[in-house]
Amino acid sequence: MSTLVSTSGRPLAERLLGVMDQKHHWAYPSLTRPGLTRAQLLVHFRHEYMVYVRDFPVLLARALGQTPPIDDVRRALAENLYEEQTGGLSRSAPHPELFLRMMEGLGFSRSEFVDDPGSLHPSARAYREWLSDASAASPWQVAVAVLTIFVEGSVNERAELAGTFQRARGEDAVNRHPLVLHYGCPPPAMQLVRAHGDVEGAHRADAWKMVLEHTPAGLEEVVVAATWRAHGLWSTYRDGVAERMGLSSVAARAG
Ligand SMILES: [Fe+2]
Repeated sequence: MSTLVSTSGRPLAERLLGVMDQKHHWAYPSLTRPGLTRAQLLVHFRHEYMVYVRDFPVLLARALGQTPPIDDVRRALAENLYEEQTGGLSRSAPHPELFLRMMEGLGFSRSEFVDDPGSLHPSARAYREWLSDASAASPWQVAVAVLTIFVEGSVNERAELAGTFQRARGEDAVNRHPLVLHYGCPPPAMQLVRAHGDVEGAHRADAWKMVLEHTPAGLEEVVVAATWRAHGLWSTYRDGVAERMGLSSVAARAG
């Protein structure tokens, strides 16, 4: 599949991009600059791992399991799932495993990432449970939009689709990553970033094609509403993590 997707004249694309334009959280700048303690970093990364990193391949599998026989949709989801659960396309390793290697690079141990839902902020549990339900619920277009556009996508979606934003790749992406620049993570531990640079561009294009080409007009409303719902739960989840990290939105806006 090509890497660019035409969204012009597609009201559904515009409405979904409107959600993605808002996928920014006030605490994000704190995460990309120096100054966080090890304990704060651990709170953030434990939540990310347990809320959607560890089980993302399974969420994709749940979505794949309910798609009708539309060959390009099944193939795109299967490719994405294969990469996430094996690292086979990027010749690396399962992405949850790569995430843990990155954590080891930061000096954390794997035992700090064992499942302990009780330690998650309630807003994190709510988002995790909703993703799990949405990935297996009909219509399948909602599951695919929520997982591959909202969860895997970023605030850069509009510019990336237009071809005006190019994500950093390879060693360039690793060397300017905040964990390397500010928190001492050794570049060899950043295989996850390399793998994403290698494959995510194609997966972004696939995500949009699946949803735009296979959502009938009568389902657009429900797909957009679910994507906004994902955004609302995600936003509250990010507020919860920031609270556990001791970050303040007032200080973040002032600083
Ligand atoms: Fe990934």
